[in-house]
Amino acid sequence: MIRVAIIGVCGRMGSALAELILKETDLTVVGGVEAIGHPSVGTPIGNGFITTDLNSIISHCDVAIEFAIPEVTIDNARICARAKKPFITGTTGHKNLDEIKIYSKDIPILIAPNFSLGVNLLYKLVSDATKHLIDFDINIVEVHHKLKRDKPSGTAKRLSAIIKEVSGREVPIDSIRAGDIVGEHFVIFSGPGERLELIHRAASRYAFAYGAIKAIRFIVNQEPGLYQMTDVLKYYISGV
Ligand SMILES: NC(=O)c1ccc[n+]([C@@H]2O[C@H](COP(=O)([O-])OP(=O)(O)OC[C@H]3O[C@@H](n4cnc5c(N)ncnc54)[C@H](OP(=O)(O)O)[C@@H]3O)[C@@H](O)[C@H]2O)c1
Repeated sequence: MIRVAIIGVCGRMGSALAELILKETDLTVVGGVEAIGHPSVGTPIGNGFITTDLNSIISHCDVAIEFAIPEVTIDNARICARAKKPFITGTTGHKNLDEIKIYSKDIPILIAPNFSLGVNLLYKLVSDATKHLIDFDINIVEVHHKLKRDKPSGTAKRLSAIIKEVSGREVPIDSIRAGDIVGEHFVIFSGPGERLELIHRAASRYAFAYGAIKAIRFIVNQEPGLYQMTDVLKYYISGV
């Protein structure tokens, strides 16, 4: 049984992940973390409780996963490293995550701004299209719900970085915040008289939660180091 601590457990993503984990036979939730003053603190979750301090539950878990705010990620990585527990962050909007490399010498750490399997395949398709459509204009558009804190999305920034790695080109990102849209990414390649559009639409947060579960099963079997979702996909599907 893999025992999971969820940081940001009452948020949109944390609660979707907890719900799915509690249906799995090989995974369980042994506690959650929320900010000081959150009304859920002290209430039960899975086989444990919601606390404000990861230190108080870290010894009960095999892995900690975070969907919270970027300001807490480094502290959480440090707590996991001290306790020798793997750490996954799905949080986005970080200004600088360099310090996390220090902790990845002691534990496996996975940084995944998007756990969706479709988005991770989109990265590969965008890389291929960029290599082939040399003279085409490229635009990225991302659309998310009104409450999303970071702009542009971590996924749009990753798509932009991939295009830059492949072609050296800086690509504009347009961000739209509207309604309760879970997450949509469009990469548009426009050439003379034609257009190629690569589009990913997440219909529900379960798309990310299912990917996060794959990441949890992956990370508990890894040596210390920094990992990303492509490593998770390679672990499950050789060749992707
Ligand atoms: N990697 C992916 O696939 C993926 C997918 C979707 C979203 N995300 C990212 O995941 C993060 C969370 O997204 P969300 O939509 O779940 O946001 P959310 O609904 O706002 O959830 C964040 C949760 O973290 C809590 N929190 C705030 N400060 C905290 C602290 N110091 N310690 C522990 N918990 C704290 C929040 O509490 P309050 O409500 O009191 O603020 C809230 O319950 C964002 O960065 C988002 O972009 C990633």
